[in-house]
Amino acid sequence: MTDATSKRLVFIIAAVAATGGLLFGFDTGVISGALLFIKKDFALHAYMQEWVVSAVLLGCIIGAMASGRMVDILGRRISIIGTACIFAAGSVWTSSAGSVEMLIMGRVVIGLAIGVASYAVPLYISEISPPQYRGALVSLNQLLITIGIVASYLVDDGFAHSDKTWRYMFLTGTTPAVILGIGMLFLPETPCWLAGKGREDKARDILNRIMPDTDTQAELDAARKSGKESGSMRELSAPWLRPALFIGIGIMFIQQATGINTVIYYAPTIFEMAGFTSATTAITATVGVGIVNVLMTIVSIRLVDKVGRKPLLSAGMIGMVVSLSALALGFQFQTTMGDELKWITVGVLFIYIGSFAVSLGPIAWLLIAEIYPLNVRGLAMSLATLANWIFNFAISFTFLSLVETIGKAGTFWLYAAIGTLGWIFCRMYVPETKGVPLETIEANLRNGIPAGKLGDPR
Ligand code: BGC
Repeated sequence: MTDATSKRLVFIIAAVAATGGLLFGFDTGVISGALLFIKKDFALHAYMQEWVVSAVLLGCIIGAMASGRMVDILGRRISIIGTACIFAAGSVWTSSAGSVEMLIMGRVVIGLAIGVASYAVPLYISEISPPQYRGALVSLNQLLITIGIVASYLVDDGFAHSDKTWRYMFLTGTTPAVILGIGMLFLPETPCWLAGKGREDKARDILNRIMPDTDTQAELDAARKSGKESGSMRELSAPWLRPALFIGIGIMFIQQATGINTVIYYAPTIFEMAGFTSATTAITATVGVGIVNVLMTIVSIRLVDKVGRKPLLSAGMIGMVVSLSALALGFQFQTTMGDELKWITVGVLFIYIGSFAVSLGPIAWLLIAEIYPLNVRGLAMSLATLANWIFNFAISFTFLSLVETIGKAGTFWLYAAIGTLGWIFCRMYVPETKGVPLETIEANLRNGIPAGKLGDPR
């Protein structure tokens, strides 16, 4: 098989698997518009509305927690196929719910699928990718998350203007679920997992097809060795793994605690706070935010394997801190600023989301797919993913009360301060993993190399 053919094959495999990211984005974003209709249909008070929104995050937390073992036992491929089935069932369930309780339960079920997909997909893609394109291929998942978010905003907007309501918004989610499930039936299991389970012939065959350049025997030996030392919670708490756990949980904290989902879930509210009185303009501006998110993720994908992870992280996080500070300043002087504030807010939020999309958005997920040794990779990634959902839940559901207690300016100053500390954390502790074989990172961990240098050659 020629190099170009195998490159195309790997790209197709990654693109199909990344449909899981599309579902993640769609099913987390769709609620923003659907809620407006649900609350009318079921006459919901704020408390029940919070439940309808938060149920999905609760499901994500359970999904991420329960399924670290699942990908190790069932394999990556079967786990993703199972996830697609749950996504489809959850979409049908929520679209046909006759009561708010049924709707909330359906949202928890969808959350379970998102929780599994949010780490099984990057894990799968990282294991089928040759090191030189791994960054771009794993980041495809993030690209599809952002496309899923815009798609959900557009679907909401489309149905909102017709006589079809929230049921159709949820039902649309079955289409990508079916594509993912059927697509995955035709994709291979990862060579790493197969070799770890002793199915070396099959692993060799797949490796030869997707990575003809690599030393197949060396890859298989490494995978078999790691697979034999079965990963457990005890293994995960071994001192030599601590730097990797520290980086994974730290980067997820920074990704969420710099406020990304206050923008994704509450952008129209922020625009209203800044002085937009028309809901339609606020929603159009929100679609704009979603589009910038997609475009800048594409920029990141093009750069991540050339420029490297750290320069992108550093530049993007500076952009985030500057725009968060500008937002805080704007709100601080809101009374003297008047009408310009709303336009400044649009500009600043575009810079903020663009900076997130080139840096923390894709790179946090990429890092956790790269830094853990194979034998604990499933468990460790699920722990980092779990941390991501817990921080997401904590930040999203304290946003409005934080605004009430410390004010709009105070809230954004707080996110800017966390961003500054996060920038220092990334400079000190995040390793450069561009083009580094996953085995080198493992060897460095075992040799006690400090966190920031884990990607350095042996
Ligand atoms: C984050 C999500 C966020 C999305 C926005 C992802 O990397 O994990 O919480 O909603 O990016 O694009």
